[in-house]
Amino acid sequence: MLCFLAGAFSQQQLQPPRPFIAPNQNRTPLLLVSRQQTGPEDQKDENVPNSFTKYYSVLWCKASKKKHKKWEGDAILMVRKSSVILKDVEGKDIGKGSGYKSKELETLSEGQTLMIGGKEIEIMGPISAEDFMSGRCFHSAVTSPCLSPAAPSQQPLQKPFTNPLRNSTGCSQTEGVQKTKMDCKPRHDPNAPNALVMPRPNLSHQWIFNKANLPLLDVVVDPYLTMHLRPHQWDGVIFLYECIMGMRTTGRFGAILADEMGLGKTLQCITLIWTLMRQGPYGNKPVIKKTLVITPGSLVKNWVSEFQKWLGSERLRVFAVDQDHKVEDFISSPLYSVLIISYEMLLRCLEQIQNIQFNLIICDEGHRLKNSSIKTSTAILSLSCDKRVILTGTPIQNDLQEFYSLIEFVNPGILGSSSTYRKIYEEPIIRSQQPSATMDEKQLGEERATELCRLTGLFILRRTQDIINNYLPPKTEWIIFCRPAALQLELYHKLLASHAVKSCLQGSLENSSHLICIGLLKKLCNHPTLFFNTIKGKENRCIKRDFDSPLEISPYDDLTGIFPINYEPGAFTAKDSGKLQVLIDLLAGIHIHSSTERVVLISNYTQTLDILQEMCKSFAYSYTRLDGQTPVSHRQQIVDSFNSKQNKNFIFLLSSKAGGVGLNLIGASRLILYDIDWNPANDVQAMARVWRDGQRRPVHIYRLLTTGTIEEKIYQRQISKQSLSGTVVDLKKSERANFSLEELQNLFKLDEVSNCLTHDLLYCNCLGNGEPLANLTAEKPPAPRTCQLGHNSERSGSQKHLTMSDLMDWKHFTGRIQHFPDPVLEKAKENITFIFQNTTEPQAMSS
Ligand SMILES: *[C@@H]1O[C@H](CO)[C@@H](O)[C@H](O)[C@H]1NC(C)=O
Ligand SMILES: *[C@@H]1O[C@H](CO)[C@@H](O)[C@H](O)[C@H]1NC(C)=O
Ligand SMILES: *[C@@H]1O[C@H](CO)[C@@H](O)[C@H](O)[C@H]1NC(C)=O
Ligand SMILES: *[C@@H]1O[C@H](CO)[C@@H](O)[C@H](O)[C@H]1NC(C)=O
Ligand SMILES: *[C@@H]1O[C@H](CO)[C@@H](O)[C@H](O)[C@H]1NC(C)=O
Ligand SMILES: *[C@@H]1O[C@H](CO)[C@@H](O)[C@H](O)[C@H]1NC(C)=O
Ligand SMILES: *[C@@H]1O[C@H](CO)[C@@H](O)[C@H](O)[C@H]1NC(C)=O
Ligand SMILES: *[C@@H]1O[C@H](CO)[C@@H](O)[C@H](O)[C@H]1NC(C)=O
Repeated sequence: MLCFLAGAFSQQQLQPPRPFIAPNQNRTPLLLVSRQQTGPEDQKDENVPNSFTKYYSVLWCKASKKKHKKWEGDAILMVRKSSVILKDVEGKDIGKGSGYKSKELETLSEGQTLMIGGKEIEIMGPISAEDFMSGRCFHSAVTSPCLSPAAPSQQPLQKPFTNPLRNSTGCSQTEGVQKTKMDCKPRHDPNAPNALVMPRPNLSHQWIFNKANLPLLDVVVDPYLTMHLRPHQWDGVIFLYECIMGMRTTGRFGAILADEMGLGKTLQCITLIWTLMRQGPYGNKPVIKKTLVITPGSLVKNWVSEFQKWLGSERLRVFAVDQDHKVEDFISSPLYSVLIISYEMLLRCLEQIQNIQFNLIICDEGHRLKNSSIKTSTAILSLSCDKRVILTGTPIQNDLQEFYSLIEFVNPGILGSSSTYRKIYEEPIIRSQQPSATMDEKQLGEERATELCRLTGLFILRRTQDIINNYLPPKTEWIIFCRPAALQLELYHKLLASHAVKSCLQGSLENSSHLICIGLLKKLCNHPTLFFNTIKGKENRCIKRDFDSPLEISPYDDLTGIFPINYEPGAFTAKDSGKLQVLIDLLAGIHIHSSTERVVLISNYTQTLDILQEMCKSFAYSYTRLDGQTPVSHRQQIVDSFNSKQNKNFIFLLSSKAGGVGLNLIGASRLILYDIDWNPANDVQAMARVWRDGQRRPVHIYRLLTTGTIEEKIYQRQISKQSLSGTVVDLKKSERANFSLEELQNLFKLDEVSNCLTHDLLYCNCLGNGEPLANLTAEKPPAPRTCQLGHNSERSGSQKHLTMSDLMDWKHFTGRIQHFPDPVLEKAKENITFIFQNTTEPQAMSS
């Protein structure tokens, strides 16, 4: 119900209760029998309606003895039991009283009068509880549209939808050009396959905006652009068109496009600009002549190149203001119709810009206008142009004041004055969010929030990355449990029995020695050589110590003896690591399967990458590498070259520490996570590097875990609820003590019996052949409801990570089955104990 605001406000944002305004003392009661002043402490309850409250629209004036009253204005009367509250149309309390006879209040009817404080009111009629709760009753009073449409039904204004040619006299023409029949035809064929035709304005729109009675023509997006538009951009262009044309809210021409990054806001805007500059629904008269694009300085060039990219330079000339290109040049040249300028430059050149008549203003990264009192907003609002678009990639609804500023910027006045907004929406909504809110307060807040969503949802559009995912190729995720190698098992046992591990289990958690032990075990899972190097680390100064916490204990003294005497470190050996063995077989499988597929191989540890690099060399796989040591200036080049068609590298070795959330590696369609992170978000992020816009091949994501070891335990923490409350590694020092000893002991157990502890944990009785077994799954919680503007649940979108009950829906395979689900894994089969697999198919494409 409470669409987008749930949990979005913190306690601090709660406004202190407004001081109570005492009603005027001098009054001549008509109906009033006894009167009392209500103190501030009662106000909260009274002001919050409940199901017994009744509402009336009234007129009010100052009490006087005159016969002919001079009404001051409309107001709303709330009546509950024996008390009344009078609110003006902005939601402000202007009077209250109590101690009326409840019988008389029960039967209020039209024409009746009542004294409230020093005011006299006359009842006009009842208001439904629904209109009050939503706040709509205030709205109809404050937002009387400036362009009130006359009832079109009385004025049969049937436009020749079907045959525009008949009415050729009404056709427009560009100056100096003869009227031709061409002008009466849509610029592009609306019946062409895949034509993107804008919706036609309705009758009242025609009544208001087509006074000249021009023929109504279809506005059709240039097919040159249409072919580049994805379905969600198609919808976005229609949305922008309707907003800018005033077809969504009468007399309002603003829009907020708040699509998440990467959905092509720029292209949608360019399409809008190009369409409106050449066409219009009435006689094909272009709707706009000049457009102003305001953007952060760093994006000015980007906008220029986007215009070039989509329209070429012959269709439309854009002018970007910089040191060498002055606004004067734009004014004096007839060539340009789009001006691109940075926010800073806009302020500097404001006077000149004010002299240009712009018909459309686009504010990129418009969330910086969230404070309406700052200079920039004021400057832009000083331009006489009511078609305004804000582009922003960040959710805008978290702070109700900022939200108001943005709405106010694109559609001034639509939510009433700032104080009206505060009274009718902000305060009730914030109050309803408080833990102490009563049921009535909750209900009022929710209904006001719903109404606010409805009103603003007409001109705000936000889509998340998910919408693109629907157009991506299928993605298959694999969680592969690898049997530990004999040496790994031997060392694991010895390590667990060692003094080092025992002592860290002895409870001294606050000095984090357990982190060292966790680190050792993880190394052992990756490869025993890493483990060896660490415990010999004191002697070998060259070893990078990125595995370790900077602790000064040396728990390794009793560990040096646990390796077999003939163990030779440094040499990369597949037989000593289960995961490495599986990886090698998997890569061989991919290599044979397709000569063009590329693989991203990720580890958190530089030392592990070193080993994987050795592996690449020894199998003669071409590779490239990006880790924390790669200079930032080289990174983009490495990435670009890997993604290019000419790329010869089979493998991209990537350290997850190298960062770069946006790192785009769509040159590869397979991604292997060699080790596991405590934080599932990191894994999700890693996957997003290949499964993203531009990817053409089916994507495979492999996660390698060593069966029965700490890696599997970490994985379980990821998918169980515990991961929500933080992780061992991430916990702040004060919280670490809370990580229970039992949990730690469990973490340090080795399970050699089960093929998959995680599967056991699901209590799934399937046969491990990929066939679903039965409805043992716990019921899933219903998806949270969101309104259009919603998506406060951003995390449930692109950042969603796997849970136990999701895993239940995946396919389960034991390593023993006859036919492996993927031929590239066939060779690795011997060393795999279990697999979870799930394929996400793209949703059916719309239109
Ligand atoms: C036309 O559209 C406007 C929205 O701009 C809407 O308010 C109005 O009710 C519509 N009129 C008709 C006749 O459908
Ligand atoms: C807006 O900016 C003004 C001036 O900088 C500041 O006083 C005010 O607190 C800001 N308002 C909000 C809501 O941030
Ligand atoms: C992989 O499995 C084979 C067959 O069971 C076994 O001989 C080999 O030692 C295993 N490799 C590793 C690294 O465990
Ligand atoms: C960690 O705690 C244990 C037990 O309290 C103590 O023996 C050990 O010296 C501590 N280590 C450090 C580095 O403080
Ligand atoms: C792995 O790298 C990420 C950074 O991408 C970091 O946040 C995380 O703590 C690392 N994990 C471990 C176990 O070091
Ligand atoms: C320990 O965890 C519990 C809940 O699991 C929490 O209430 C408590 O505050 C935590 N204690 C510390 C010291 O973090
Ligand atoms: C699971 O239950 C649903 C109905 O609750 C049933 O239609 C479906 O066939 C069941 N699936 C299996 C595998 O038994
Ligand atoms: C598994 O795949 C289905 C599509 O086949 C998808 O709807 C679902 O979200 C996937 N499950 C998980 C947990 O990713």
